[in-house]
Amino acid sequence: MRAIDIIAKKRDGNELSKDEIHWFIDSYTRGDLPDYQASALLMAIFLKGMSREETVNLTLAMAYSGDVLDLSDLIPYAVDKHSSGGVGDKTSLVVMPLVASCGVPVAKMSGRGLGFSGGTLDKLESIKGYNVNLTNDDFRRLVRENGIVLSGQSHDLAPADGKLYALRDVTATVPCLPLIASSIMSKKIAAGANGIVLDVKVGRGAFMTNLDDARELAQIMVDIGVDAGRDMIAVLSDMNQPLGDAVGNALELKEAIACLHGEGPDDLREHCLELAGYMLRLAGQGQKWTDEKEVRAILTGQLGNGQAFAKLRQLVIGQGGDVSMVNDPSLLPKAPIVEQLTASRSGYIAQIPADEIAMASFDLGAGREKKGDPIDFAVGLEVHVKVGEKVENGSPLVTIHAQKQSQLAPCLAHLERVITFSDSPVEPLPLFYGRIFGR
Ligand code: URA
Repeated sequence: MRAIDIIAKKRDGNELSKDEIHWFIDSYTRGDLPDYQASALLMAIFLKGMSREETVNLTLAMAYSGDVLDLSDLIPYAVDKHSSGGVGDKTSLVVMPLVASCGVPVAKMSGRGLGFSGGTLDKLESIKGYNVNLTNDDFRRLVRENGIVLSGQSHDLAPADGKLYALRDVTATVPCLPLIASSIMSKKIAAGANGIVLDVKVGRGAFMTNLDDARELAQIMVDIGVDAGRDMIAVLSDMNQPLGDAVGNALELKEAIACLHGEGPDDLREHCLELAGYMLRLAGQGQKWTDEKEVRAILTGQLGNGQAFAKLRQLVIGQGGDVSMVNDPSLLPKAPIVEQLTASRSGYIAQIPADEIAMASFDLGAGREKKGDPIDFAVGLEVHVKVGEKVENGSPLVTIHAQKQSQLAPCLAHLERVITFSDSPVEPLPLFYGRIFGR
């Protein structure tokens, strides 16, 4: 086979065969094809698209380009979740211990934040000593001993995706549904999941800003999973305003801890209960946890009786973190300057744009521009209102946590500009826009 023929075939809008896709991906991963040929194929895919079969073949080629984690000797059924990235999305920090506390082992590899999207690893690293770089043996030992492990992604997992994603980043080929879907799903499949709950975000603070695109992405990922023999559920969730109140690493961890104690913001709790419920129902494989109300009652009980929080403690201790910071979140990194933005008028909250809130938090130092940049765990925002809420003049809108006095004025001005009010009532935003069930 020749790369040039495969590129030309896609350029002309023809469907690539399974063998052609596998040959191209394997050759590129081994370093036998240059970046410029891979870039050309990516652009041809961007412009001409891919059929369902091609997308499945691309996903599987990437998933099997390196190690595929096999936990079947430890876990009868591995259930995983994936969020397509959002603002204030600390769901994994709640859902993983919550599900594990019900006796369903969870072994998750997560990512770091990039741009205005936060990352679970960064949030966990707010805890002194928490080790995200586990050896394979330690990863397996923690699953066996604790039924919960949450680490960074191993380098050997879906290496083709790592190489291709870096190319997409610099060739304007990131926003392409088959490429996004195959990138996400290749990592999930390589991480050994039997059942996957996808949380596809839609709105101003998400990859997908409109519902039709988000639905299409979710459907493609569900189809890929089903064709690859996985049980799949996708939810479409709102990301026009931040999820929960906190945006920023230690602040989000603190809020997740509150949620594990049965406290914290209602939207976050509801979101986590929904996702955890689907994870339990997948893990029950139609035999157990079939009744929605019963599942909800079990999960709510675990938040109220300390079991879900105990699992978080076990996770942190297992990975070398200072558990006193979890027992007492006031010990987590704290910014020296705390200032409140209050409402300059009364009215209904019309917009708290998630992308702008993320940018304001980013400007305080909570995010990273490019891979490897340092991150400030302590800074960020707590947003005290939701779209549709009625506020009075002078009521608190946002608490700013900053390192420097000089950051306050621009941050306040930014927030004042982007949080908008209406004199007439505004519909609250829904938490979810829909669900897609695979097998
Ligand atoms: N997240 C991924 O892992 N890959 C993409 O292409 C987009 C988001």
